[in-house]
Amino acid sequence: MIIAIDGPAAAGKGTLSRRIAEEYGFHHLDTGLTYRATAKALLDAGLPLDDEAVAAGMAAKVDLAGLDRSVLSAHEIGEAASKIAVMPSVRRALVEAQRAFARKEPGTVLDGRDIGTVVCPDAAVKLYVTASAEVRARRRFDEIRAGGKQADFAEILADIVKRDARDSGRADSPLRPAEDAHLIDTSEMGIEAAFQAAKAIVDAALK
Ligand code: C5P
Repeated sequence: MIIAIDGPAAAGKGTLSRRIAEEYGFHHLDTGLTYRATAKALLDAGLPLDDEAVAAGMAAKVDLAGLDRSVLSAHEIGEAASKIAVMPSVRRALVEAQRAFARKEPGTVLDGRDIGTVVCPDAAVKLYVTASAEVRARRRFDEIRAGGKQADFAEILADIVKRDARDSGRADSPLRPAEDAHLIDTSEMGIEAAFQAAKAIVDAALK
């Protein structure tokens, strides 16, 4: 059983995916971390982000067991990740590893941008989690401020709009809902309500 959860940055799909995986006892993979780990390895090695062969070589070496969210969540790493994510051979290497993960028993939850459309088109359940750019920027802003740091709302919003455009506009595996995905708009919904909505969809599919 595979549950595919896609959506733009900061829509709440990470939290939702973790809760769904916990609820059903499934393995969870945040596929964004695989793009982030590749980008970080390039940055750490002082290698360029615009050489596809070099980036694909790094992608092939990413260890799914060693993905550390606390290290990879940095904003600059997310930006770098979305730049190398436009490269087809980087995607091929990472998608191969993601598909192998997806086959784990008793089931898996994968979240990202292209899980329902490309990585696992046969997933039993597909969710597309979204929210307006303003709401997503507000959440990021509140998160940063809660961590005791300064944040500029206009800058965060501009980054989110730019990232959406890059993820939706690329030729290979652009961000878009699969035709059979269930849409969950969290603009006016808390995480608990989003979880209940998702759970009802998964329960119906399990019957
Ligand atoms: O979700 P997260 O912000 O960690 O993803 C970082 C970047 O990795 C995204 O902006 C996107 O460009 C890329 N990504 C992707 N396909 C996925 C997951 C992430 O292209 N399945």
